Amino acid sequence: MGNRTLAILKPDCVRKNLQGKVIAKIQDAGFKIIAMKQMRLTKAQAEGFYAVHHARPFFKDLTEFMSSGPCVPIVLEKTNAVAEFRKTIGATDPKEADPGTVRREFADSKGENIVHGSDSDDNAALEIAFFFHQGELIANQ
Ligand code: CMP
Repeated sequence: MGNRTLAILKPDCVRKNLQGKVIAKIQDAGFKIIAMKQMRLTKAQAEGFYAVHHARPFFKDLTEFMSSGPCVPIVLEKTNAVAEFRKTIGATDPKEADPGTVRREFADSKGENIVHGSDSDDNAALEIAFFFHQGELIANQ
């Protein structure tokens, strides 16, 4: 059970100016921010990040969307971070997400669903390393 996960506030979140509201919900759920930045992924970077989905029918839409504007990768810390964060954001499809979750509250569709969360401890470590150098991870107490 790891203590860190990678979140990405996706381009729809940034376009809608919802970064503050989403981060407030994340902090209210007990996560500490260890690293955060705003950046824009190139199409090639988005394809690299989502390489496990390369054979899926939505891969082109997903990587075009993720490179369509700025996003905000964030490293979060909490006990059992991966599972806890997935609870906080809710199901991939906002229509299936529980009331009170980030996606239920703010997302429009399965594709444009406001936020990404790692799905395992192994992927969390890989995804954190994709965006941040070790020295950029600063423990908050
Ligand atoms: P994410 O957690 O970022 O990881 C993979 C993403 O693929 C997922 O969130 C969704 O946004 C996206 N995705 C999954 N299923 C579909 C789908 N059927 N159509 C479009 N995008 C999808």
